[in-house]
Amino acid sequence: MVFAKIVETEKELQDAFFVRREVFVKEQGIPQPLEIDEYDESATHFVAYFDNRPIAAGRVRFTDELVAVVERVCVLPDFRRKQIGILMMNCLEDFIHGSEIRKVKLNAQTHAIPFYEKQNYIITSPEFLDAGIPYRAMEKTI
Ligand SMILES: CC(C)(COP(=O)(O)OP(=O)(O)OC[C@H]1O[C@@H](n2cnc3c(N)ncnc32)[C@H](O)[C@@H]1OP(=O)(O)O)[C@@H](O)C(=O)NCCC(=O)NCCS
Repeated sequence: MVFAKIVETEKELQDAFFVRREVFVKEQGIPQPLEIDEYDESATHFVAYFDNRPIAAGRVRFTDELVAVVERVCVLPDFRRKQIGILMMNCLEDFIHGSEIRKVKLNAQTHAIPFYEKQNYIITSPEFLDAGIPYRAMEKTI
């Protein structure tokens, strides 16, 4: 069974970092010092499991502008296109919904734009590069 949850323990945090490392550092080649950043300390983290194995992750942080920023959403390659990304996004958005914040923003890697559009995010910026990867800003009101 697959389930997604908010990170509550150090082990769950390390599980989320494991998935992020597998996807962003090993698969995509993003340098580890950029993958882990200053926001990890204060962000709320999420992890998904299949048979006690961590398979997906993501994080949410709130800004001073009353915006929730969704970042580091990732699913291990073997588990993609099985609606686990959607499960993770629903878990993040449920958490955001529990706050007063209704505006959600994210920077989508361009290949992932259809994934976010399926969840009603709209593009709000031209393409830009970060660590050599093309992104476009997207947002949604929940
Ligand atoms: C983007 C990512 C999180 C999607 O996770 P996933 O579990 O494969 O996505 P889901 O199965 O929940 O997809 C839901 C829908 O989004 C769309 N979608 C997902 N991946 C897609 C892709 N690569 N191309 C086109 N549409 C896609 C499809 O409409 C899909 O529904 P369908 O499979 O019924 O057609 C995953 O591909 C991933 O981890 N990629 C590497 C890390 C990354 O780029 N993260 C995003 C950073 S902004």
